[in-house]
Amino acid sequence: MSTGLFISFEGIDGSGKSTQARLLAEHLTSKGHDVVLTREPGGSPGAEEIRALVLQGDPDRWSAETEILLFTAARRDHLERTIRPALEAGKVVICDRFADSTRMYQGLSRGDLRGVVDDLHALMIGVEPDLTLLIDMDPQQGLSRALSRQTAEERFEDFGEDLQRAMRDGFLTLAREFPTRITVIDGTRPIETVATDVQASVAARLPA
Ligand code: ADP
Ligand code: TYD
Repeated sequence: MSTGLFISFEGIDGSGKSTQARLLAEHLTSKGHDVVLTREPGGSPGAEEIRALVLQGDPDRWSAETEILLFTAARRDHLERTIRPALEAGKVVICDRFADSTRMYQGLSRGDLRGVVDDLHALMIGVEPDLTLLIDMDPQQGLSRALSRQTAEERFEDFGEDLQRAMRDGFLTLAREFPTRITVIDGTRPIETVATDVQASVAARLPA
């Protein structure tokens, strides 16, 4: 669909995705690449409106299935308005979370809905990143980092350690399922060390 490069960051809450996405964007920009740094849920005006619906307020006002539709609706808008135009213009798109997050969070957290998530993805999104960097770490460490941030968007951080552990295992299983797309990066190390690994993984995929 494009000539650009589509990179996503995935991992449990607090693993360092946003930090690494920002550092990668700065690094590639300094090398002369045209970079779009974006995030999910959100990344376009309409999708940011949906973000507020799913991450704030009483979470029980949405059924599990409605929640999948809302995250997918946000992704569709983000894809149409932000991601696809940037890739078609040859840019590097760096996205903090993408469809793997829905596979894990909505697919695992309220029963086994992975099949529904995958079916809806095939129908409405149908695109995967060229490269996904899975920032992996122990949930206890991720949770304490995430909780120290104290934002209003605490819906999923409320899950606690057991569910975060299931998601970590689920992300690692996904990495085995899609070995050419997903690279696992050890997120427990210092920020600069992780960033160096991220840069090395991306360098191999950049157009000459
Ligand atoms: P995520 O986007 O995955 O939730 P963040 O990038 O927001 O994670 O990082 C969560 C918190 O942990 C932030 O306060 C950030 O400064 C800190 N942090 C990120 N990476 C590291 C690291 N490698 N070592 C120590 N602290 C980190
Ligand atoms: P994010 O801002 O990336 O949170 P964090 O920085 O703590 O990792 O994402 C907000 C929350 O949205 C996060 O807890 C994961 C959740 N989420 C889903 O449940 N499904 C999705 O499809 C996406 C993209 C995010």
